[in-house]
Amino acid sequence: METKLWHEGDSLEVAVSLLAAGQVVALPTETVYGLGADARNEAAVQQIFTAKGRPSDNPLIVHVANARQLEELVVDVQAYVYDLIEAFSPGPITYVLQSNGSVAPSVTASLSTVGIRIPNHPLALHLLEKCGFPIAAPSANVSGKPSPTEARHVLDDLSGKIAGVIDGGSAKSGLESTVVDCTGPVPVILRPGEIKAAQIESVVGAVEISGDKEQARPKSPGMKYKHYAPDVPLHLYIGYDSQTVLATYGKQPARIGLLTYGAHQVLEKELPTYYVGQNREEVAHQLYRILRRVSRDEIDLLICLVPNVDELSEAIMDRLTRAATVVKVNK
Ligand code: TXA
Ligand code: MG
Repeated sequence: METKLWHEGDSLEVAVSLLAAGQVVALPTETVYGLGADARNEAAVQQIFTAKGRPSDNPLIVHVANARQLEELVVDVQAYVYDLIEAFSPGPITYVLQSNGSVAPSVTASLSTVGIRIPNHPLALHLLEKCGFPIAAPSANVSGKPSPTEARHVLDDLSGKIAGVIDGGSAKSGLESTVVDCTGPVPVILRPGEIKAAQIESVVGAVEISGDKEQARPKSPGMKYKHYAPDVPLHLYIGYDSQTVLATYGKQPARIGLLTYGAHQVLEKELPTYYVGQNREEVAHQLYRILRRVSRDEIDLLICLVPNVDELSEAIMDRLTRAATVVKVNK
């Protein structure tokens, strides 16, 4: 299959008709690019799982244009959900709600709940309005790789496997949405994102974070994460100074690269540096692009030093920790 690339909304009609015909089309959102299919069409949704190599027990987020379309897919909505929609949608937040069974079974991995988001991107909203049906769309990467923040990234991963990509430029925020379980009396954050716990709490009056505090913190060394992974192993050090860390690698022949950000990158060795950005916004915006650029041709190992957990946002730490093959925390 030849994968089409459409620029800035021309041929939106073509994308709509392909989606309506059960094809898979990648679309821009403000977080990352999504791999879209008609959420009501089981065969179409199956193609998303096939193209990505995604495990079938991982449910997809359904994208809609507005609150009315959201309501058509769910039952038993808690009153506070409408306050959250009012405050944050369209935007980088996904509501997990009780499904009424309208979406295809594989969208929800046969769960009774469905994750729904109204993306804040003009092309995505335009497309959703023109379609009139909900679009299931996980991030448009091959499973395990960093999410795509540019149309080019989608082509790198999925060219030949999907009908087309709508190029909407570089994704504004660069990290996936906050996923919030809204099925109970208090919202529970399942995945951190740009919309923070404190913001949700300020609207609803209460919020919980999935797992206890320990689990939410970076996990122990040696654990393998099949998420957001660059082509080379990433070792993440939290609370260590660079000299101590680099000394432990001193005798190894590995070609080491450094993933750095902010101002603290003063290092004694001349190592290739992958600089992500000055501040939290820049790091969020560029992290996946940089992780995608790291190549085995250049280095064997990527090291990232973060002075303390709170310096970067919870969402960034979550993604870095999952991308890393080794995480060490200096307590
Ligand atoms: O920003 C985003 O959320 C992007 C853009 C494309 O919208 N999408 C995205 O989708 O990141 P994906 O599939 O890469 O991640 C969806 C996350 C997964 O962790 C999945 O397990 C969770 O949402 N999820 C989806 N439906 C769920 C449900 N019913 N219950 C619990 N978790 C759910
Ligand atoms: Mg994903």
